[in-house]
Amino acid sequence: MGKIAVYPGSFDPITYGHLDIVERALECFDGVIVAIAADTPKDGLFTVEERVKMARTALKAKPDVVVESFTGLLVDYVASAKATVILRGLRATSDFEYEFHMASTNKSLNETIETLFMMASKDYFFVSSRTIKEVASLGGSVKDLVPDCVEKKLKETFGTPQRRKDHKESSSL
Ligand code: PNS
Repeated sequence: MGKIAVYPGSFDPITYGHLDIVERALECFDGVIVAIAADTPKDGLFTVEERVKMARTALKAKPDVVVESFTGLLVDYVASAKATVILRGLRATSDFEYEFHMASTNKSLNETIETLFMMASKDYFFVSSRTIKEVASLGGSVKDLVPDCVEKKLKETFGTPQRRKDHKESSSL
């Protein structure tokens, strides 16, 4: 596959912001692995299988992209994929501290692996999976921010006012 970048994250769910990073990364790398973390400290709305399925559907037209889930340390996954680059998107300066901490931790765990950052495009710098879930859970449209398969899944999840209410109650427990 040549020079590979591993693009890791929760992808809960994948957004147009993520897809934009993948597309631009393909200009710099021969292939991109979208690596969906199965164990993250964040509570997921979707199961890892659902997140993988949505990402695969959204990226099915891209032959140089592979979508996989991983468990354990990211650096171990990157090494097992025979890659040496972790790619992360940066939206605002508020992302920086978290990303700096994560990149430094990964460097201390495996110094042969580099983290590279790509700035989000101006159209997507405000897009995050967290706000998309919030907007969808409150009945707002996220049509312009996520691929169709994700919009459909969010509608199934939050479709009715009762489901929205159930989600709101369960996420505030
Ligand atoms: O999209 P996110 O939630 O910001 O992605 C964070 C992620 C999944 C990249 C990070 O939590 C991660 O790498 N998890 C795997 C476990 C790991 O290697 N932790 C040490 C690095 S901080």
